[in-house]
Amino acid sequence: MTERTAYPHLGRRGVLHGGTAAAALDLLGCSEPGEPAKPKKVLLAYFSRAGENYFNGGRTKLEVGKTAVLARMIAELVDVDRLEIRAADPYPEAYDPTVARNKREQETDERPPIVGALPDLAGYDTVMLGSPIWNVRAPMIMRTFVESVDLAGRTVLPFVTYAVSGLGGIVDDYREWLPDNTIGEGLSVRGEDVAGARPDVEEWLRAAILLGR
Ligand SMILES: Cc1cc2nc3c(=O)[nH]c(=O)nc-3n(C[C@H](O)[C@H](O)[C@H](O)COP(=O)(O)O)c2cc1C
Repeated sequence: MTERTAYPHLGRRGVLHGGTAAAALDLLGCSEPGEPAKPKKVLLAYFSRAGENYFNGGRTKLEVGKTAVLARMIAELVDVDRLEIRAADPYPEAYDPTVARNKREQETDERPPIVGALPDLAGYDTVMLGSPIWNVRAPMIMRTFVESVDLAGRTVLPFVTYAVSGLGGIVDDYREWLPDNTIGEGLSVRGEDVAGARPDVEEWLRAAILLGR
């Protein structure tokens, strides 16, 4: 337990926001001090859009969306079940109509339907929610998702890819949509830099105690 009693990384990255030692043990999966930590079961749910997108001030056509690439990288580092959130009415291939549709969905507080059945989250301790930043916020399909599954009691870890906005308002979005959940520290990676993001991903996973020191 020597390593766990100090929890230097918890305070530093603000995951527990000043939580107690008991809360720290709970996060680690220990019911009693001294018991070995049981691994957390993690669902990684992400939305990503291939097609024409912003890229280094211009446009590019992505075969695979940047958030999907980041999700894959996370899944190579830790044991997660990966779920792709897909829109029943797919977003356009072209960038500008996608921007326009998203703007409308955010302004009218829409819940774009998701294709396929969603999993039962019983048994998951932590849910990673990944998406691009759209209009400085979460795409509304992320709200469809969080309202379609039972996230009660789960720690939520947001991650995003973006062009210029960093995390934008995404943590505030999840705090508003999930007022009773612990929202852990978010990871933001610039879409253009995803391929080299592994060190940042590892640090984020360590802060969430999902990867060893
Ligand atoms: C509809 C739309 C809105 C966007 N809005 C923003 C934004 O407000 N801020 C930002 O930094 N990037 C914005 N972007 C860029 C994406 O967040 C960025 O390219 C991201 O890496 C795309 O991820 P994906 O390929 O997984 O969809 C937007 C892209 C689209 C398509």
